[in-house]
Amino acid sequence: MRLRKKPWARPELESCDFFVINPKENKGKWKTLFKNPDRELHLELGGGKGTFMAMLASRNQDVNYLSIDIKDEVIVLAKRNIEKVFEEAGINTIDNVKIMAQEINLITEAFGDGDVIDRIYINFCNPWPKDRHNKRRLTHTRQLNNYKTFLKKGGEIRFKTDDDELFEESIEYFKEAGFEITYITRDLHNSDFEGNIVTEHEEMFSSKGVKIKFLIAKN
Ligand SMILES: C[S@@+](CC[C@H](N)C(=O)[O-])C[C@H]1O[C@@H](n2cnc3c(N)ncnc32)[C@H](O)[C@@H]1O
Repeated sequence: MRLRKKPWARPELESCDFFVINPKENKGKWKTLFKNPDRELHLELGGGKGTFMAMLASRNQDVNYLSIDIKDEVIVLAKRNIEKVFEEAGINTIDNVKIMAQEINLITEAFGDGDVIDRIYINFCNPWPKDRHNKRRLTHTRQLNNYKTFLKKGGEIRFKTDDDELFEESIEYFKEAGFEITYITRDLHNSDFEGNIVTEHEEMFSSKGVKIKFLIAKN
């Protein structure tokens, strides 16, 4: 996603109550950041402009959410989207979602022992189709093993993509990392799965007739 540089993005984010300025400082204590720390904690990787998280977090006020992306230019759009959707839903305080800038390849710098994440969402991550780049995939076995250091035993990863090759190879990655696939469809919009929230990229691909692939993998 190419975005024009926005010099105002960082100052706007730093003045936002639900933006986490230094993720590494919270390693091992993410739950305590929330007003209601005993709730389940779900993590979205590569959240983009935040359409998905805004809907998810506003609809599920009894779950705490963290959403990670890498660029301030896109996170600031997620911030605005979350504010807009919460306001439209009549929710005055945004206290069950936090957003942050973090390189997911370095996720163990910010999450690890002491953190218990109940669910991870990975929506439309970069397919990195060249063999020599496969390791950069957010679903690569190497990454899944990193996530396992903070994903609850019995917790799950929900993964959606438009990309056939990434999907089929990810099934192998999940198995290799010891996950059990508990739900799978290669045509989500014509499946029996209920409660799907459409992301920005999902909207773009499905409007072109591309079938959305989706799976749930249990740790
Ligand atoms: C293709 S977009 C998908 C956005 C959204 N999830 C959706 O479904 O519309 C992928 C997002 O992941 C972010 N991203 C890619 N690699 C990343 C990494 N290594 N660390 C953090 N964010 C990353 C990008 O900045 C981008 O916003």
